[in-house]
Amino acid sequence: MVGLLLTENGVMLPPQASSVAPAVDSLFKFIFWISAFFFLLIVGLMLAFVIRFRKRPGHQKAAHPPTHNTLLELTWSGIPLILVMIMGVWGFKVFLDINTPPANAYEVQVTGQKWKWLFTYPNGYVDEVLHVPVDQPVRLVMTSEDVIHSFFVPAFRIKRDVVPGRYTKLWFRATKTGKFQVFCAEYCGTSHSDMLTFVEVHEPGGFERWLEAASNLLNTLPPAEAGRRLYQSRGCSQCHSVDGSGGIGPTFQKLFGHEVVLKGGARTTADENYIRESILEPMAKIVAGFEPVMPTYKGRLKDQEITALVAYIKSLSGEAQPEGGQQGGNHGSTGR
Ligand code: CUA
Repeated sequence: MVGLLLTENGVMLPPQASSVAPAVDSLFKFIFWISAFFFLLIVGLMLAFVIRFRKRPGHQKAAHPPTHNTLLELTWSGIPLILVMIMGVWGFKVFLDINTPPANAYEVQVTGQKWKWLFTYPNGYVDEVLHVPVDQPVRLVMTSEDVIHSFFVPAFRIKRDVVPGRYTKLWFRATKTGKFQVFCAEYCGTSHSDMLTFVEVHEPGGFERWLEAASNLLNTLPPAEAGRRLYQSRGCSQCHSVDGSGGIGPTFQKLFGHEVVLKGGARTTADENYIRESILEPMAKIVAGFEPVMPTYKGRLKDQEITALVAYIKSLSGEAQPEGGQQGGNHGSTGR
């Protein structure tokens, strides 16, 4: 049983990838092994006494059973008192370390919403993956668009609720490069368990290069390709498929230029203006068979980004694309 609990980190713990992880693990292991020791001691003694002092024929109750033993009682009160005080003081120290970001921390805004995470960098660029530099403190300022979520990075040993109407904060300094899983740790509805992303920790210099390239995608890529990246990075892909499969929202495959049946039976054609309106005012026209659950992107997507998304959706329309293939074959997109 003990062998099952032991991994390279001690007791079934994920890898340590942040500056606070070793301290959290040491405290956790201290509490875990003390609890395990006393569990075995107390349950073991209890079982031994139950067997040894069970009622048997011919055994009488003692005439004057012992009532108390001051030395024994002081011992079994004093030792636990000392142990919980160690846990309390040690825990408070680790708690302060986790909650006190260094003054020079790099700040990223985190938004939780059903059911994705969005990360806004200081230059305004938004991504669905949290990119950070290694060995630099990063501070997260987090809020929610709808219900309570919880931002949890097991490898960093950090977790905090993300609450609508207020800001919560977290900080960490990643000590290893690579990708680390992010979970939502607060049940927030149907797709709570799919509210996954990851932290990508870049080697020195790699983060700046990544941010530079990612922020300029609208100027360096053809609109349809930039739209495809936005589709993935801005959350469209959580609800809208591009291969015709079902989802929370209508698929984008063969949408552009086709007739759409709306709730109530009205019909309209999916053109540039329809798509733009659906992005900015999702409640204006609800497609039959779908729930009105899409959040507005007003103020969150620039005109140029909407144009790129329209170009991408256009590129998925099938027959409306006689030549040119997937990339950049749609020079007729609006506003360009
Ligand atoms: Cu968001 Cu669970």
